[in-house]
Amino acid sequence: MTGNNQTVISEFLLLGLPIPPEHKHLFYALFLAMYLTTVLGNLLINVLIGLDSNLHTPMYLFLSNMSFSDLCFSSVTVPKFLQNMQSQVPSIPYAGCLTQMFFFLFFGDLESFLLVAMAYDRYVAICSPLHYSSIMSPRLCACLVVLSWVLTTSHAMLHTLLLTRLSFCVNNVIPHFFCDLSALLKLACSDTRVNELVVFIMGGLVVVIPFLLIVVSYARIVSSILRIPSTRGIHKVFSTCGSHLSVVSLFYGTIIGLYLCPSANNSTVKETVMAMMYTVVTPMLNPFIYSLRNRDMKGALIRVLQKKILFCLW
Ligand SMILES: *[C@@H]1O[C@H](CO)[C@@H](O)[C@H](O)[C@H]1NC(C)=O
Repeated sequence: MTGNNQTVISEFLLLGLPIPPEHKHLFYALFLAMYLTTVLGNLLINVLIGLDSNLHTPMYLFLSNMSFSDLCFSSVTVPKFLQNMQSQVPSIPYAGCLTQMFFFLFFGDLESFLLVAMAYDRYVAICSPLHYSSIMSPRLCACLVVLSWVLTTSHAMLHTLLLTRLSFCVNNVIPHFFCDLSALLKLACSDTRVNELVVFIMGGLVVVIPFLLIVVSYARIVSSILRIPSTRGIHKVFSTCGSHLSVVSLFYGTIIGLYLCPSANNSTVKETVMAMMYTVVTPMLNPFIYSLRNRDMKGALIRVLQKKILFCLW
């Protein structure tokens, strides 16, 4: 039997960002521009890698998976947030909220697993260059991608199913701009101990194990360079690993900043701003990190454009 104070909640209210009303339009335009940049940048990377056969190497296939996942990760939260900024009642239905949380976890984890696959790829490329093409076979790449999908689906599913067990009472206001798992757990009025335990354990596994695997591959890359120190070797590592390292630092830097740096007061504001960072800023910057300082991507862009122009003239 359920108690009297438990009503069935059919929707949640997303409070969004603490933006003063006079600046609302400015911020709306800013977020819209950032979202459009994210979509266009990541689409461009996907199209370029798809069209240019010179880029059909494991590194670029992982990269195209990564930019696809960035695009989706941003699309899970930002369009709804933009819509809510314009509406009087920033509501989201219960099922919509759970769906958003599922895909948020799904694409967030996927990114973390793809970063590991890319780190392994760089490790093989630098430490056993002669066996690179036999080790990183299309089959292994496909297996790594499928494995990432399976792991992230089960992780996101686990949290979502555990959340459906909870009941929510009268308070349905989420002080966030999307349906964040921890914000939802704070709202629930039934016992959330199991959920919190699973968040703690699985969060640790999903964040810490990929991070350690990345650190191990880089440690081995660095030790293999130190064995044969040469300017060319160091240059080669920076040119092939630089962009991956930047993305890894951005990804884990935000997580570490969010969870390991203690904040004294207004932690909700800090959490929201940091969440803004990884849902809007990181997916927007990734394509630039990869394409701006990458000769292969620029070459591919020029080749694809030339082909298009020739095709049009023809
Ligand atoms: C993801 O990677 C796999 C395996 O390398 C590749 O076959 C596939 O085309 C990639 N998918 C996308 C959307 O880029």
